[in-house]
Amino acid sequence: MTDTARAAVLFDALHARRSASAKFLVAPAPGEQALTRIVTAFSRAPDHGRLIPFRLIEIPLDARARFADAVEAAHAAAQPALSAPERERSREKATQGPLLLALIAVIDAEHAKIPASDQWLTVGAALENFLLGAQAEGFGVAIRSGRYLEQTPLREALGLHAHEHAVSLLAVGTVSEWPPEKPKPTLAQVFSRWEG
Ligand SMILES: Cc1cc2nc3c(=O)[nH]c(=O)nc-3n(C[C@H](O)[C@H](O)[C@H](O)COP(=O)(O)O)c2cc1C
Repeated sequence: MTDTARAAVLFDALHARRSASAKFLVAPAPGEQALTRIVTAFSRAPDHGRLIPFRLIEIPLDARARFADAVEAAHAAAQPALSAPERERSREKATQGPLLLALIAVIDAEHAKIPASDQWLTVGAALENFLLGAQAEGFGVAIRSGRYLEQTPLREALGLHAHEHAVSLLAVGTVSEWPPEKPKPTLAQVFSRWEG
């Protein structure tokens, strides 16, 4: 493949990246080899100080019901007046998607040289690599975040240490239906040239 063709393939993939909807993710999930390639891409994020401030925890299918209990308890802790339908909806975050991963940020806020903001950026870069890797393998990803992720029931269920944060839940699978494409920023919104 020529350099131009290789660049075209890469830019096509970058420009085509989009989020899936968790309720439209069906089997099959990535197999062992595809998942290894995706997680390897995840691990290649630029990482100032090489602190490795990111990791993933898979929630296996046979543990989903127990994990849903923790997600529901975490939602109730974040929002005590949770209605019964809201409780039920919160459980879907643990049950949807044939593959479910928790993205964990491992942030050393007291690091002498590397600011926490650099570490968070690395986590975001790892997430993007994961999304692009999954899409390259033909799978969709739905990202779920929210205040419930900071709550004790979920932190305890995931066994997080004090300096660790559950950033989001990643539902991964085969897309049965794509949501409408989201509007994208214009170049003028994201790029300007300094005029001195
Ligand atoms: C850190 C992070 C957290 C997100 N959390 C949610 C979420 O809780 N619910 C949701 O529907 N989408 C979530 N998203 C996905 C965004 O809504 C989505 O990327 C955005 O709407 C643009 O759509 P696109 O990814 O298809 O370009 C999250 C994305 C990021 C980067």
